[in-house]
Amino acid sequence: MSGNTSQLQVGDKTVDMAIKEGSVGPAVIDIAKLYAQTGMFTYDPGFTSTASCESQITYIDGDKGVLLYRGFPIEQLAEHGDFLETCFLLLEGQLPTAAQKADFDYRITRHTMVHEQMARFFQGFRRDAHPMAVMVASIGAMSAFYHDSTDISDPHQRMIASMRMIAKVPTLAAMAYKYSIGQPFVYPLNSLDYTSNFLRMCFAVPAEEYKVNPVLSRALDRIFILHADHEQNASTSTVRLAGSSGANPFACIAAGTACLWGPAHGGANEAALKMLEEIGSVDNIPKYIAKAKDKNDPFRLMGFGHRVYKNYDPRAKIMQKTTHEVLNELGIKDDPLLDVAVELERIALSDEYFIEKKLYPNIDFYSGITLKAMGFPTSMFTVLFAVARTVGWIAQWKEMIEDPSQKIGRPRQLYTGSPQRDYTPIGRR
Ligand code: SDX
Repeated sequence: MSGNTSQLQVGDKTVDMAIKEGSVGPAVIDIAKLYAQTGMFTYDPGFTSTASCESQITYIDGDKGVLLYRGFPIEQLAEHGDFLETCFLLLEGQLPTAAQKADFDYRITRHTMVHEQMARFFQGFRRDAHPMAVMVASIGAMSAFYHDSTDISDPHQRMIASMRMIAKVPTLAAMAYKYSIGQPFVYPLNSLDYTSNFLRMCFAVPAEEYKVNPVLSRALDRIFILHADHEQNASTSTVRLAGSSGANPFACIAAGTACLWGPAHGGANEAALKMLEEIGSVDNIPKYIAKAKDKNDPFRLMGFGHRVYKNYDPRAKIMQKTTHEVLNELGIKDDPLLDVAVELERIALSDEYFIEKKLYPNIDFYSGITLKAMGFPTSMFTVLFAVARTVGWIAQWKEMIEDPSQKIGRPRQLYTGSPQRDYTPIGRR
C-alpha cells in the first residue's frame, strides 16, 4: 500500500485499488473494479472483512467497546435521552431541538393506531403461534393496508411510511402478545409517552385501571435505546439488500424482522434466558462451560460473543445496571436466574477459552432476565428487540435509498459444482 492506493498482484498483473478513509475506524480498499480487471472475485463468506456500504449512522469500535449513534456515545443517550429522541437522531442525524422533539412525539403518537381491519388479520393465526411469526406477517401486511406510503421514489411517502412503522410496530407487538394470551387488544392512548403506551397496550385489561410504573417504563425505554441500531448487522444488511431492489419499506422491514428472529442474532435473548433456565443453578455452570468449549458440542453460551465486539458490549453493561434497577423496583431480591447469569459471567470471563477467543457478554445476556421480570414471556423478547430496531432499519434503509450511487445488491460466488454436462434420458441413468 502507498498513500491512498493499494496494489494487488494477480499473476503477471498489478491492479491498483483506491483506499478510502472514513471519519473514524478502518479504511476500505475499493475493489469494485477487481473483477473487470482480473476476472476474479474476492471471497469473504459471513463478510468478516467486507464493508457493504458507506454510512454515517452508527459507529462501533469492537476492540474498545464503543458504540456511537451519529457520534453520540450510547451511554450518554441511554442516560440522558429517551427513545423517540434517539429515533429522531438516527433518522435526521442531529439531536432534536425542544420544538422538533415535541413535533416528532406528536406525529409518532398520532400514528400509533393500526387500520381496524388488521385486527381481523390476527384471527388467522393459531393462538400458540410464535409472536415473531405474527410480527413478520403483520409488518409485511402493512403494505396491503397503507398503499399511500409505498412509493419509495416519493420523499413524503418515505417519511410517512417511516413514521407509521415506528409508531405502529409497538401496537402490532402488543396485539401479537394479547392475541397469544387470549386477551382483548388494547388501543393506544395518546396521553401516554411512547413506552408507557406500549406497556399499557401489553398489560392493561378492560376489567380494571392500569397504572404505568414509571421506573419500568423508563427502564424499557432505555432498553429500546440500546437496541435501536447497530451498524451493518445481519438484519440491517437484510433490510438494505431487500431495499436495494426497490421493494416497499414495509416489505423490507418485514425481511429484517425475519432475519432478527434467528438465535445467532436477535433470537439470542430468548435463547439466553432458556439457557439460564436449563442451567438452573450455579452448581451446573461448569458442565455448561465445558459444553461451550467442546468443539464436538454445538452448544454455545447464548448471550456471549459478538462478530464485532472483542471487548465488553457497552450495551451489556447498561443492560446489567437496568436489570438490577428493575429487580429492585419489583422487590425481587434473589432471582436464581440472575445468580446463575452473574456467576456464569464471572467464570467465563476468567476462563482461558473465552479470554483467548475474546468472548464477552453481549446485549442479549441480561436483557431476558429484565424482560421476564417485567412480565413478558420469553417468546416476546425478540419482538421487543424488533420494536426497538425498527427505527435503525428504517434509518439505514432511508440512507441507502437517498444515496444517488445506490444500486441493487447482487453478490457473486465461488462455484464448485459440476461443470457443464449433457442431459441423459431416464432409461439410461
Ligand atoms: C446480536 O451483529 C450485530 O451487531 C448483532 C447485534 C445487534 O445489535 O444487531 O449485536 C445483536 O445478534 C448479538 C449476538 C447475539 N448472539 C448470541 O449471543 C449467540 C451466541 N454467540 C455466537 O453464536 C457468536 O458469538 C456470534 C454469532 C454472535 C458471533 O459469531 P462469529 O463472529 O461468527 O464468531 P464465530 O462463530 O466464528 O466464533 C469464533 C470462535 C469460534 O471458535 P473457533 O471455531 O474459532 O474454535 O468463538 C467460538 C466459536 O466456536 N464462540 C463461542 C461462542 N461464540 C463464539 N463459543 C462458545 N459460546 C459462544 N457464545
